[in-house]
Amino acid sequence: MSPSTMKQWVVENKDNGFDGLAYKDAPVPTVGESEVLVKLQAASLNYRDLIIPMGKYPFPCAFPVIPASDGAGEVVEVGSKVTEFKKGDQVATLFNQGHQYGAVDIPATHTGLGGALDGTLREYGVFGEKGLVKAAKNLSPVENSTLTCAALTSWNALYGLKQLKPGQVVLVQGTGGVSIFGLQFAKAAGATVIATTSSDQKAAKLKQLGADHIINYKTDPNWGETARKLTPEGAGVDHIIEVGGAGTLKQSFKAIKFEGVISVIGFLGGLNPNEQPSILDTLSNICTVRGVYVGSKELMRDMVRAIEANNIHPVVDDKVFTLAETRDAYEYMWAQKHFGKLAIKIN
Ligand SMILES: NC(=O)c1ccc[n+]([C@@H]2O[C@H](COP(=O)([O-])OP(=O)(O)OC[C@H]3O[C@@H](n4cnc5c(N)ncnc54)[C@H](OP(=O)(O)O)[C@@H]3O)[C@@H](O)[C@H]2O)c1
Repeated sequence: MSPSTMKQWVVENKDNGFDGLAYKDAPVPTVGESEVLVKLQAASLNYRDLIIPMGKYPFPCAFPVIPASDGAGEVVEVGSKVTEFKKGDQVATLFNQGHQYGAVDIPATHTGLGGALDGTLREYGVFGEKGLVKAAKNLSPVENSTLTCAALTSWNALYGLKQLKPGQVVLVQGTGGVSIFGLQFAKAAGATVIATTSSDQKAAKLKQLGADHIINYKTDPNWGETARKLTPEGAGVDHIIEVGGAGTLKQSFKAIKFEGVISVIGFLGGLNPNEQPSILDTLSNICTVRGVYVGSKELMRDMVRAIEANNIHPVVDDKVFTLAETRDAYEYMWAQKHFGKLAIKIN
């Protein structure tokens, strides 16, 4: 039997930063006929979770909202019309609950957990059965809770448009969640990986994870050219996981191979329009620049299978927070003290 009340976090509005996060008691939600009640065991944070309470997230949000998209847990009850899941199944959440397969569309962008819809920083959550995926069998709940956003986005970058091939070269920027998954997926695919970081200490960890080449983007601001020189015949990088935005795109163009793909995922380095290359740079470099918005349930299932087959374990920061410590977790991540994913253990 589930209890009748639970704890949950709420982002009250978009104006008060982390002070706008409130820890509250709430009733455990009831299950509709096509819904699943999940006892959430873990959640993980993404950069977008930090900027939602600051009003800086560019996709739909509805306040007040229970934050965070990423979660994993155990099914405790299913509605009468649910066919995909049963009590006791381990599941993970889908980021855009309405993005089932193929291209993302506008209605799906209004179904993002922790933004448009209530998310995972709570003890129990009700989700439509379409909005869950069976968890990876080789992973713990904390590890499974990291797959929803960063992992799927990286997977989509490498497999959603032009599929990565063994022997190709992938460049990942920095040591955040998206980039570390990119490194792990690329190594599992037999690719060569060039990774950048601002920290020599983090460089050693990148090496342990299998990065073939590491460039410090602070001491080598022209890292794009350095990366190109590291590729076979200096021809350039096949796939770039671009998370820096305006601050890094110029260098990405210097590194990209003819017919390579730059997947534009984030803007950690800022949005300064004066620093951005122009659309015509795609012609002079003969490359594809593609915006990526997480991914579909179909892609997430493919990714979970690959994680199981290759026994990939997400890199989770040594410091794991409790649900009650969520605000501290936000501060820790904002200070970029983390390596890989930052997790919150719930139940
Ligand atoms: N489009 C989508 O669907 C989607 C999905 C997920 C995430 N995102 C976006 O992708 C970005 C990364 O997300 P995340 O969750 O991986 O973030 P994260 O975990 O917060 O990444 C932080 C790391 O990024 C690196 N970094 C910061 N500024 C950088 C710069 N100028 N150049 C290169 N690396 C830099 C730093 O690595 P070092 O400490 O090693 O230097 C830092 O530790 C964010 O902007 C996020 O909003 C987009």
